[in-house]
This record gives sequence, structure tokens and C-alpha cells, in this order.
Amino acid sequence: ATSTTTETTTGEGWSSRSAFVLAAIGAAVGLGNLWRFPTLAGESGGGAFVIFYIGCVFLLGLPLLLAEIFIGRAGQTDAIGSIRRVAEESNVSKGWVSFGAIGALAAFLIVSFYSVVAGWVLYYAGVFAADFGSAVAAGDPFRGALEGQSQDEIANRLTNLFASPSLLLGMHFAFMGGTLFIVARGVSGGIEKAATWLMPAFFVLLIGITIYGAVVGDVSEAAAFLFTPDWSRLTPEVMNSALGQALFSLSLGVAGIITYGSYIREGTPLGSTAVTIAIADTAVALIAGLMIFPIVFAVGLDPAAGPTLVFQTLPFAFEAMPAGSLIGLLFFILVLVAAITSSISLLEVPTAYGIGELGWSRTTSALVFGGGAFLIGIACLLGYNVWSDVRPLSFWPIFADTDILDTVDGFTGKIMLPLGALLTSIFIGWKADRRLLETTTQLSAPAFALWRFLLAWLCPLAVAIILVTGLFPSLL
Ligand code: PFF
Repeated sequence: ATSTTTETTTGEGWSSRSAFVLAAIGAAVGLGNLWRFPTLAGESGGGAFVIFYIGCVFLLGLPLLLAEIFIGRAGQTDAIGSIRRVAEESNVSKGWVSFGAIGALAAFLIVSFYSVVAGWVLYYAGVFAADFGSAVAAGDPFRGALEGQSQDEIANRLTNLFASPSLLLGMHFAFMGGTLFIVARGVSGGIEKAATWLMPAFFVLLIGITIYGAVVGDVSEAAAFLFTPDWSRLTPEVMNSALGQALFSLSLGVAGIITYGSYIREGTPLGSTAVTIAIADTAVALIAGLMIFPIVFAVGLDPAAGPTLVFQTLPFAFEAMPAGSLIGLLFFILVLVAAITSSISLLEVPTAYGIGELGWSRTTSALVFGGGAFLIGIACLLGYNVWSDVRPLSFWPIFADTDILDTVDGFTGKIMLPLGALLTSIFIGWKADRRLLETTTQLSAPAFALWRFLLAWLCPLAVAIILVTGLFPSLL
């Protein structure tokens, strides 16, 4: 059986268990935690959304996370090859590889717009770096950010950024270039190095800014907002977005965790590793809420600002804060670090496919897929200016009024990702060989029974609901 070899097909692997854990946490922790989670929690009224979200993570996300780690560990090659191997050993149709293909395509599409949004973060890091530079030059390094600018002026920065194709393109190019460079250097030489350097820095910054927020901001109001449930706000739409966010945040349904799982060496305990990743990812999302909302509330701003919360509301809040210039700079560096460790995991999925299935070299594969995603990203960013009238899927009611970036985001998030997760849960919950599951995961008997029950029943049902309501929102 292949599951006893220690070398992967591509000959690559993590150098230790902690390298895998850090890389997987790096993949999970990203814009989803620092930008999308606070945005959704703010828009959905806080507590009830947050509590429901936590339920989704542990009842649905965690079993799926372990299922993807299992497929990678058992298959030990790119996602499609790994699924094929598990299917073979389980004597079921190789047609199951189709969900690996959906996942790899989804990862390729997601990284295209992820890089564009990360480009906005890069731009703001630049704005705050310049601002902090002038604060230092003025002999007042601990002043507030963007001194003397009105709320409109600060908000206009985002508007002006969106209006400039060249600025957006430059940022997108820089971010995608960095992602491609790391992926091209390989698993232990690139991805693992990036994760082992960046993730500790990430946690230091996260804790530091959160303590700062607790000192200067209104942490009790933020905690009350995030954790006091008003169950009347838990509408079907809010539940739907909480479920979708749990999948996105844990990087599920796009074969990313299968790919990372394929580089695990023998002897790594899979169950406890999955639990560690799920807890870390959720903790970061909650801490991000406890970092951002105290600052927003301290200045009396609106927590329900939506996607611009981080780019317009927060910079304005930093203006009124002591050391806001420095903290703003550190905040955007933090988001940037989280974003790049996620984007490398996204690009690694199609890259591993090119290596494992098409026989390409790593450099060629990373260049082809990174370059392709870069081009799709250009279409996304032009959708904010010269192509702002373009509605790529205008014939489809749910996308009728959706611009290019949001169409790629919506199509992957609402359709491909839940479809990938649905097929994963059916494949592992019903089809995969029981012995192979038991020997690879090494779970205790009760844990194994619970895992399979959740995968076979709860996950398919809940994920099917996301999928159907995402496609036909009029059912809600
Ligand atoms: N989990 C990432 C985030 O929360 O930002 C997004 C993501 C990364 C999704 C990698 C999928 C993936 F394979």
C-alpha cells in the first residue's frame, strides 16, 4: 500500500510536524479572518452570528478538515492524484477525482482576486508607512494617523485607489509576484520557510495590537457586541453566510488542505493536528474582532460598515488614536502577512497539479498558473474602473448586478467551494475504505465514530443547504 511510504510522489515534504501545522494555520488564517469575519460579524449584528459560526467550525469544518488532511496523507501527491489513489484503494469509481478538479480550479480562481484585495492591503501599508515616516521626521512618532485629514478625505483614498487601474495593477503585480516566488521555491524551501518566519511574527503583532486596542479602545463594548446573542438576528441568510465563512476561513472545499496534507510525513497525528488548526483559525478570527471593534467603538463609528470597514472606518479611527500612525502601519503589515501565507497555499494547489499530473517542473507550473491567475486578476481590478459596467454572468439572477471581482468571488464561494465540500463529505463519509481511514487517521474508536457520523450525515446536509440557498436565495 502506498500509505506506508514516506516520500511523496513529487519527492517533497514538510521537514517536521510543526512546519505542517504552521503552514496549515498560515493557509487558514488570512483575509477571511481579518477582513471578511469582522465585516460579516459587524453586518450581521454580532453575537448570534459569532456563536453560530463557532458551531459551524467545530461541527462541520473540523470533520471536513480532517477528511482533507486524510486524503492528502493517504494519497501523497497532488489533490487529484490523491483522491484517485484513495478511490482505488477503496474500490470506488475514479470519477471522484472530479471534486479535486473543481477544487483546483476554484483555488486558481480564488487566488486571482485574493491577490487584488491583498493589493489594496499593500497600498494601505504603503500609505501608513509614508505617514509614519513623516511622523518620525516631524519628531512625533507616536501621533495619530493621517493627521488633519477629514473622514471624507480618508475614505476617498479607497475611492481614488479603485479609480486607478495602474495603481491597482502595480499592487496586484507585487503581491502575485511575491506569492509566485515563494511557491516556485518549493515546499520545504519556500512555503515552509515563509510560514515558519511569518506566522510567529503574525502572532506577536496580533497580540500586541489587541492589547493596544484594549488599552485605548472600548473592549467591553466590543466584547458585548461580539458575544451577546440577539437570536432574532439569526436569519437564514445570516446562517448561510456563517456556514460559507466557516468553509472559506478553514480553506476547505478547494483541495488546499489535501495538497498540504500530502506533504505530511508518516507518524503525524492527524486528529489532534486538525483540532489545533481549527482552534487557531477561530481564535484569530475572534481576536481580530476584539482588535478591530474596540478601536471602531472608541471613536463611535459604525461596526456595520461592510467591506470598507478595514479600509475606510479603521484608518479614520487610527487618526484619533495615540500612536495611530504606527499601529495603523503594523495593522496593515499584519493583514499582509496573513494574506500571503494564504495565497501561497492557494497557488500551491494548481501548481502541485501541474507537477503531479502534467509532469511539469515546479517553476514552470507556478509560472503558468500564477501568470494565469494574474491575468484573471487584471480583469477583476479593471472591473472597478474601465470595465465597471461589465456584469460577466448577467444572465444569472443571483449575479445579475455583480461586478467582475464579486462574480469570481461569488461563483467560487457560493458554488464551487460548497460543491467541493459536499463531495468530500460524501466521499469520505460513505465511500472511502474503512480500514484505510482507521489506519491513516489513528483516531480512537469513539472519535472515529463521531467523525464519520458528522461527515456522513451532518456535513452533506448542511453544506447542501448552503449550496441550494446560495443558488436560489428566493427559497430563504
Ligand atoms: N482561509 C483563507 C482565509 O481565511 O483568508 C482563504 C483560503 C486560503 C481559502 C486557502 C482556501 C485556501 F485553499
